[in-house]
Amino acid sequence: MRRQHATDADLTLLWAARFGSSPESKLRGKVVWITGASSGIGEELSYQLAALGARLVLSARRGNELERVKRTCLERFSLKDEDILVLPLDLLDRGSHQEKTAAALKHFGDIDVLINNGGRTQRSLCTEADVDVYQALMELNYLGTVSVTKQVLPHMIRRGSGIIATVSSVSGFVGVPLATGYAASKHAVQGFFNSLRTELTDYPNITISTICPGPVISSIVQNAFTEELDKPVATAGDQTHKMSTERCVHLTLVGLANRVKEMWIAEQPFLLFCYLWQYTPTLAWYLTNILGKKRVQNFKAGLDADSAYFSKPKVKTN
Ligand SMILES: NC(=O)c1ccc[n+]([C@@H]2O[C@H](COP(=O)([O-])OP(=O)(O)OC[C@H]3O[C@@H](n4cnc5c(N)ncnc54)[C@H](OP(=O)(O)O)[C@@H]3O)[C@@H](O)[C@H]2O)c1
Repeated sequence: MRRQHATDADLTLLWAARFGSSPESKLRGKVVWITGASSGIGEELSYQLAALGARLVLSARRGNELERVKRTCLERFSLKDEDILVLPLDLLDRGSHQEKTAAALKHFGDIDVLINNGGRTQRSLCTEADVDVYQALMELNYLGTVSVTKQVLPHMIRRGSGIIATVSSVSGFVGVPLATGYAASKHAVQGFFNSLRTELTDYPNITISTICPGPVISSIVQNAFTEELDKPVATAGDQTHKMSTERCVHLTLVGLANRVKEMWIAEQPFLLFCYLWQYTPTLAWYLTNILGKKRVQNFKAGLDADSAYFSKPKVKTN
């Protein structure tokens, strides 16, 4: 098992993990709709929520992968077939989101928690990336998330309770080279939900939660946008320095159980950067530029940009 730091989350979340309610006590039996459930963080959310006894709506584009995740949940945990609804959904197909929400409500009657998790990142320099890539990132990460949220929110307002949790990113409030469009889309997500949270102060039992992970093991780099819409990344490179998916999801569920409004989940030095960006932006810019420069240089040289922050030997990727 990978080493875990005692300091891999912000202070509120660490406090909740130590002294707060357990995910099991708050999430057992709840209906949780997860987008992006076919892989990575969403897949692990499905497993940990199934282990807690939550009932699940699993969404992503690939129905066969969702069926695999459902089968695994049923094999490993004591849920019944009807406790998990596979609901294929394309976040880009906004016209379908009303009908998908109705299908989830028809099956379970309620949606207690929506986890907006589906999304893609970017690996390309601004000077080389088509504007189409920027549009696609906004359509998927921002508008797709807004669209599903707008379908589920009226239901939560009617019943006066619920959690809308969104997997943003540390890139939702810091800048990340090679991901200008991704960071912009996640900044948009943060701006939307931070504003929505305050619009909902008449509904104290509706929680808007944004989850800001640093690097986490998943398929996100393989699936990243590059310079052109349909051009795949050459290789995902080394992922081993990243936080384990299990740990990220565990902390996320602790945060949801304790209705934490914004969670920073990252190993060092990324967590330190979050604090520097909040409290000492000038110092943060200085350090970001040093590390970011190395990352861009590695990328331009065809090396593994993701391990640029670490002293491991660099892997030639093409
Ligand atoms: N891993 C990290 O380091 C990291 C860090 C910070 C934030 N995040 C965020 O975490 C979330 C999950 O990413 P991940 O790391 O788990 O990556 P991942 O393994 O690539 O999973 C991405 C998920 O999004 C779904 N998806 C992609 N396009 C979609 C579309 N058009 N409609 C519906 N679903 C779509 C994918 O399913 P289909 O292909 O089947 O549609 C997949 O289930 C993302 O929002 C990402 O920005 C990740």
